[in-house]
Amino acid sequence: MGQGAYSTVFEGLMDLDGVQERVVLKRVKQGVEGAEEMVEMEALMNINASKGTARGAVAAFLGYCWVEPRDAAGELTPGLWLVWRYEGSNTLASYLNRRDGLDALAADLGVAPSDVIQTATGQILSALAELHAAGLVHRDLKPANIILAEAERRLKLIDLGGCADLRSGTNYVPGECIYDPLYCPPELYVLPTAGPHIAKSLLAQATSSMLWARHKPDRYDCWSAGITLLCLAVPTLRNDAALLRFQQELEAADYELDAWRASSRFVKPTDFAALDADGGAGWELARDLLRPRDIVVAADGAVDFVASSEVRRISAADALKHRFLERVFAPEPQRAAGSPKEQRVAPGPHLSDLPASPSPEPGANPAGVSGGGTGRRRVGGAGQGLLRGLKGALLGRPAGRPHPGMRATGHGDRD
Ligand SMILES: Nc1ncnc2c1ncn2[C@@H]1O[C@H](COP(=O)(O)OP(=O)(O)O)[C@@H](O)[C@H]1O
Ligand SMILES: [Mg+2]
Repeated sequence: MGQGAYSTVFEGLMDLDGVQERVVLKRVKQGVEGAEEMVEMEALMNINASKGTARGAVAAFLGYCWVEPRDAAGELTPGLWLVWRYEGSNTLASYLNRRDGLDALAADLGVAPSDVIQTATGQILSALAELHAAGLVHRDLKPANIILAEAERRLKLIDLGGCADLRSGTNYVPGECIYDPLYCPPELYVLPTAGPHIAKSLLAQATSSMLWARHKPDRYDCWSAGITLLCLAVPTLRNDAALLRFQQELEAADYELDAWRASSRFVKPTDFAALDADGGAGWELARDLLRPRDIVVAADGAVDFVASSEVRRISAADALKHRFLERVFAPEPQRAAGSPKEQRVAPGPHLSDLPASPSPEPGANPAGVSGGGTGRRRVGGAGQGLLRGLKGALLGRPAGRPHPGMRATGHGDRD
């Protein structure tokens, strides 16, 4: 189905007690430095996200398995495989790439075309608010990582490889940034890189809610949600070249969205019609999501957040209350994990079968800064093998045994 720097994604079928379930499988690329660790982290983040209130916000994670070379007969190649329920055949990016994309999205969400931008934005913000309430920051929110779950007619988040759990410090390395230059906020980091600010010990972990209150790392994703709103509402911005140009012009306009719009050399006033309706409600929300944070960059490159407690960029939970969304989007009350509704739509194996996620010392992650270019990148190879102690957790099978009914049907490489 796709191929990133670290992994290949396949569509497959899994036999669950005689019922064939369509699944998505992600396999670590062999011989790529840091790949195993990246995908292990993605498994841990899926386990963490699926444990609590964020469960409905992300694609249903079924588990993982480790295929040993001796077991690699058939169609599963050796290595670590992650498995999700197949949620649907369209990401938000695939809708936005089509000329009739918004009408198709409206039909698939079951709403009127006139309500589709608000509905999609509300669902994305709702998923983010649930993720943030669980202490997780996605760090790679963009249309390609938002999938339409067809059965629930709901947009869900996928691709948690860059997600950081700031309650436990899992997949968070101080000073490391994981970013997509087109969607990441100008401050680049979820927390300041200067100062002793992140959990380094169990004691410090207990104070991480203070850290959250003080620095508001969730606002990283809110910027990405603002860019996503622009992509939904402004057709001219729906391609990478336009987004890059937008970033450059916005920076030149000191990150003042109104100043950008007045000075932009490639957008027309009519491009903003959907945001300008209702007295500019959508434009107001975009402006609230795309506010810069005040930062100070020291001579050594360390970034500090100034007056974090007064950060003007709106949170996902507050954005949900914005008047742009009130006409069509009534946020559901926070659902507890395993509520009856979710159990109905989530048959099959459950994460109760999985062991609790280990919370590695933050130092167990490789240090390093992501490189340039689009997409996430991370260097270093320490801390591998985190999941080996947990192997076999998928469906409670014996360690290392691939599920006999699992079959990869994709055409990815087999390196
Ligand atoms: N649960 C899922 N259901 C259906 N399709 C999925 C699911 N997860 C991923 N995909 C598809 O696979 C693609 C790649 O998945 P993703 O996790 O974003 O991997 P990558 O790291 O390669 O970006 C997605 O863009 C989407 O088309
Ligand atoms: Mg992706």
